[in-house]
Parts: sequence; C-alpha cells; structure tokens
Amino acid sequence: MGARFAHAVCNAGSEALLVREVAAASPGVVPAYRKRGLLTFRVDEGALGRLVFARVHGESLGLVKSAAEAVERAEGLGAARLHVYARDDGPDGPSESGAARARAIEAELADLRIPTGAAAPGERIFEVIVADDSALLCGTRVQGEGWRVPGGRPAFVLPAEAPSRAYLKLEEALAWSGLAVAEGERAVELGSAPGGAAAALLQRGVSVLGVDPADMDAALLARRGRGGATVTHLKLEMGALKRPHVPRGTSLLLCDVNLAPQVALRAVTSVASWMGKELRAAILTLKLNDQRVIDRVPELVGRVEALGLRARATQLPSNRREICVVATR
Ligand SMILES: C[S@@+](CC[C@H](N)C(=O)[O-])C[C@H]1O[C@@H](n2cnc3c(N)ncnc32)[C@H](O)[C@@H]1O
Repeated sequence: MGARFAHAVCNAGSEALLVREVAAASPGVVPAYRKRGLLTFRVDEGALGRLVFARVHGESLGLVKSAAEAVERAEGLGAARLHVYARDDGPDGPSESGAARARAIEAELADLRIPTGAAAPGERIFEVIVADDSALLCGTRVQGEGWRVPGGRPAFVLPAEAPSRAYLKLEEALAWSGLAVAEGERAVELGSAPGGAAAALLQRGVSVLGVDPADMDAALLARRGRGGATVTHLKLEMGALKRPHVPRGTSLLLCDVNLAPQVALRAVTSVASWMGKELRAAILTLKLNDQRVIDRVPELVGRVEALGLRARATQLPSNRREICVVATR
C-alpha cells in the first residue's frame, strides 16, 4: 500500500504551531507539503487526532491541476457535500484571487451535483482547496464536531456599531462549538472593553457584566438588547472583583484579558467557583504571548475541565496570537 497523507488547514502564520502540535500528539507523523495556511502530513496509519491549530483536517487525496482531475478524485467517495475554498494566504484569509479561483472551480464542479454549504454531522465531504494558481489539493473528511463551513472560515461581517473585532471572535466561537445562548441569560466577561463580544451577546438578549479597567463603548452601554438585555461595566481589574459583584443566575463566563493564560485562568477559576452549578458554559481567549505556552495547551485545557466542564480548544479564524476554549457542562 502507498503512503497515506492527511491535509490540514490553519490560519496564516500558524503553520509552525500546527507542525509542533502534530509532532507532539503523533510522533510518527511527518510534515510533507507546506504552504501558508495549508499543510499535508504523511500519516501511514490512522489519522490526525483532535487539533487546536487545524481549523479542519482530513485525508488528503493529492494535488491536481484542474477541476476535471478533481472530478476523478471524487469518484467512489460517495460525498454528500462539496467544499471548494482557497487556503489562507494572508492574515485576513484567502486573497481575492484565491477566492475567485475557488468560485470558478466550484462552478466547474457543478456537474458532480454534490450540494455545497455547511455540512451536517456524519456527512462525507469532498474538499477541493485552491493551493495556488496551478494546484488544487483534494481531500475528504467526515463532519464531526467543529467547523461545518468550507475551510472553517465562516463569512461573518463586523457590524458598523460593533465596538471591536472581538464581536467576530464571539460569533465564531458560538458557530464552531455549536453553543447556543438564550435570551434572558446573564454573562460575566473578564476583559470586556471596548465591548465587541458583549455586543454580540446583547443582540441575542444576553445581559453582560463587563469587568475591565479600560473604558467600554458608551453607545453599547446605553443600548438595550432583545428582551431588555443590558451591558453593565464594572471599571475594575478582575483581581478586584468580589463574589457579590456577580449576580445570581449568571450562567456564562467569558474571559478575554490580554494577560498570560495562567493569570487569566486563575481569575476564571475563582469566578467559576462563585458561580457554582449555575455556570453553564465558558468562552475563554488564551493569549499565546510566549511560544512555550503552546506546549502547555493540553494542560491549560485540563485546568478548564477541572472546573467540571467539558472543554475544547481551537484557533478561530479571527484569533491572532491566541486560541479559544469553549467549555460546557
Ligand atoms: C482583547 S481586549 C478585550 C476585548 C473585549 N473582549 C471586547 O469584546 O471588545 C483585552 C482587555 O483586557 C483588559 N485587561 C487587561 N488586564 C486586565 C485585568 N487585570 N482585569 C480586567 N481586564 C483586564 C484590557 O484592558 C483590555 O480591554
């Protein structure tokens, strides 16, 4: 039997982190093809396990030059879904030329009559990834937990009134994890200024208590969300937060402080202990300020699980030098 390869898609700039993560998790697996945002690994047996730095990954079916050749790779797969997309060749995702080529290839693959769009759990996906002007990487994966949209890059748009890009991080965290928040819920957010994440929660009818020594957006604080939801600002460092500050019935805990993960998790652990069984879910951004933190990601996720929650970590498309942990009871 010939060599088997896996393909993985990551944020531009995270390739070395992904290689390091794969090496730590699967010592026999070696990197093969490598472009910004798109890598393959020689796996021989098995597959890549759960990965933080791969937005999606699957079994590589090899490089081809044209849509016609890609059609041949789809034969016999029984794919229920077709995902055609370009790799991230820049920090904001695919270049316009890459995205245009992906649209053109998708149009050429219309004869396959495989539906495009978000995959349902258990569906086999045929992936065609624009690597460059002359190469397409074909692959396949079965939809499990995680991103259902092509390449794990949803098309969220930052609203003009959103106070920060953290709005996108929150939208992405909910879409990636499948966590649903309900109108009438209450959240506490450590590191809440200026208020992008709070804006995304407010529009869902979630009231937010923001804890941050910096100013929050005045318009956001004056706004009312669905069902009369509000954003309230406690202009404090999280270390000064006391149990009575956190209202009874608070079910969501967010943390997005620009401090070392160990420091952030210490505060998260205190607040979670005050919330007790009322804590239903946590959405945490952990900063990778220090390269050595990368090797400690499993341990950091373990600390979140010690709160009695099931935690999963990923690097969201909008994350730069940071990752997101979503934990649910
Ligand atoms: C990435 S920004 C947060 C963005 C915010 N989540 C949003 O949605 O707009 C990081 C924030 O952490 C805050 N921060 C830093 N140290 C803090 C501390 N000890 N306690 C609370 N917030 C802190 C900073 O003031 C800054 O506003």
